[in-house]
Amino acid sequence: MEPVRLEEIAEEYRRRSSAVAARIVLCAGTGCIANGANKVFAMFKTVLEAKGLDVYVDLKMVEEDKAGFHLSESGCQGFCQMGPLVTVLPDNIMYTRVKAADVAEIIEETVINKRPVTRLLYKDPATKEVCRGTGDIPFYTQQKRMLLKMCGQIDPGDINEYIALGGYAGARRAHLELSADDVTRIVEDSGLRGRGGGGFPTGRKWRAAAAQPPGKKYVICNGDEGDPGAFMDRSVMEGNPHSVIEGMLIAARAIGADEGYVYVRAEYPLAVKRMRAAVEIAGSLGILGESVFGSGRPFRINVMEGAGAFVCGEETALMASIEGRRGMPAPKPPFPAECGLFGKPTIINNVETLASVPIVISLGAEQFRATGTKASPGTKTFALTGHVANTGLIEVPFGTSLRTIIFDIGGGVTTRRGPGKPEDFKAVQIGGPSGACLSPRYLDLPLEFDSLKAINAMVGSGGLVVMNQDTCMVQVARFFMQFTQSESCGKCVLCREGTYQMLVLLDDIIEGRADERTIGLLESVARAVGTGSLCGLGKSAPNPVLSILRDFRGEFDAHIAHKRCPANKCTALIRPSIVASKCRGCGLCVKSCPTGAITGERKQAHIINEALCIRCGACLTTCKLGAIA
Ligand SMILES: Cc1cc2nc3c(=O)[nH]c(=O)nc-3n(C[C@H](O)[C@H](O)[C@H](O)COP(=O)(O)O)c2cc1C
Ligand code: SF4
Ligand code: SF4
Ligand code: FES
Repeated sequence: MEPVRLEEIAEEYRRRSSAVAARIVLCAGTGCIANGANKVFAMFKTVLEAKGLDVYVDLKMVEEDKAGFHLSESGCQGFCQMGPLVTVLPDNIMYTRVKAADVAEIIEETVINKRPVTRLLYKDPATKEVCRGTGDIPFYTQQKRMLLKMCGQIDPGDINEYIALGGYAGARRAHLELSADDVTRIVEDSGLRGRGGGGFPTGRKWRAAAAQPPGKKYVICNGDEGDPGAFMDRSVMEGNPHSVIEGMLIAARAIGADEGYVYVRAEYPLAVKRMRAAVEIAGSLGILGESVFGSGRPFRINVMEGAGAFVCGEETALMASIEGRRGMPAPKPPFPAECGLFGKPTIINNVETLASVPIVISLGAEQFRATGTKASPGTKTFALTGHVANTGLIEVPFGTSLRTIIFDIGGGVTTRRGPGKPEDFKAVQIGGPSGACLSPRYLDLPLEFDSLKAINAMVGSGGLVVMNQDTCMVQVARFFMQFTQSESCGKCVLCREGTYQMLVLLDDIIEGRADERTIGLLESVARAVGTGSLCGLGKSAPNPVLSILRDFRGEFDAHIAHKRCPANKCTALIRPSIVASKCRGCGLCVKSCPTGAITGERKQAHIINEALCIRCGACLTTCKLGAIA
């Protein structure tokens, strides 16, 4: 096969794209699809065609003598809460919450007459200013999108667009111009650390595999992403699959591998589909296959669906799963770099780590280090969710504070009554089931691997769940314990039984059975589980509970000593009563009460009959005036 000519592809793509009159990019990430993006896409096609305009969904179809319109889908653009998102280029106007019914107006006004439809533009709730596009929406302006830059811009199904934006140039350089040692050294010098949780230096891992004798070696991309609330890796695989392939190609050059696996979470069908399609097209161009870029070196990639267990994300379990065995972790050493998949030297890297590698090669080590902190260079993506105004996928330099993320990018904390005040912020969960819950005292901590480790927290894969004062922290501890307990593979007694015992103790606290010995017992079981478990799942399982105990001890004490849940969430402990001075007698709670326990005259303070109350808590969440406590 003729070696692929990246410049020719790029030039051809640019020529065709400059021939279209306008481009309409519709976010087709999972969040926007859930909000109806597919209907909006179909409507754009229908309306453009009905107007007799030429619509190209693939630039290969462009007829250069006709001023057609390029309609394309992108991966997640991050601002999922405001989706479906529609961007009209070249004017870069972004519309939020677009419905099929809005399409005709967008086409008439913006696509044809070049005027924005103001009602569909994002309005900054803080300043009430109307924003035309990503250039003035605070959610975007406060981020630094390096890894996600193309994600959300490009059509993930069109390799030509990736190439036109400089894609695969790093992999070609690695295979044709640099030695394996040069490639490893650039990655080492860049200080890139693994984004899959632990922050292990990527170059050091590669060096260890490169040092093994020549022969069969593997590169594995870990796309299992099982942390609750995390969707960063999914977004990269769905939105820019070629960046992952390019990272794997560079890794393969560094260690001398000829085969790779992308292990994708089975619950991510779109990511599986996009990765498979990208591997196939890259193969058809000779980027993957028998002679990568005509170098004479082979590299093939297999895309495999995960086995559906959180523990399969652990590297030794993941390899067992690829080998067709049950996904159970094995002791280390030997490390995968020495003896990995099918007993061969293997490097396993996270999706985001691998997608960062082409950026490292194109910027060079020094420029890559210019972003982030000395010990944690570069940027990190986070999935921002929970009680925050702007939920979504964000990317910030390492060293950014939680305050910037939650209040500037996230737009502040929300409450059930709407936008909240800074004091409504209670905690943020970082790092998923291996991570910690951080209280307001950590709001100004720069987020990086080592600063978090110093407070027994971790960056983890990047889930950030914001919680307001209505959250019961004992229940949050229970949620994570329940998760790790049910995901334990059962190999180690301490992980299997210890997490179960921790769950039982947390239930005792939540259901009012705990006494003064409970916390001591919880802490000692937690220590045993952390010390005696084999893999990261068991070793880190106590982290969320211990961090909550450290920062929210008062809430545990209230549950145990006073049999009271300060957030009024533990139904066994609540005793709702109406504060007469606050109650305006609106009667909303009466409607929500399933047992008729609440009575009162309109516009008069109501009362609760304790004998009838079953403590369901419905009235507590219904009362908008906070008159029920
Ligand atoms: C229980 C458990 C689950 C894990 N899940 C993932 C995962 O979904 N994705 C991931 O990249 N790493 C996961 N890891 C970490 C991997 O074992 C491994 O460290 C990582 O893929 C290495 O890549 P990196 O160096 O690029 O971070 C998990 C670890 C444990 C203990
Ligand atoms: S620590 Fe838990 S998940 Fe890990 S091997 Fe042991 S039992 Fe399995
Ligand atoms: S807690 Fe439930 S049963 Fe009791 S008063 Fe409120 S709504 Fe009625
Ligand atoms: S899915 Fe559209 S912005 Fe995330």
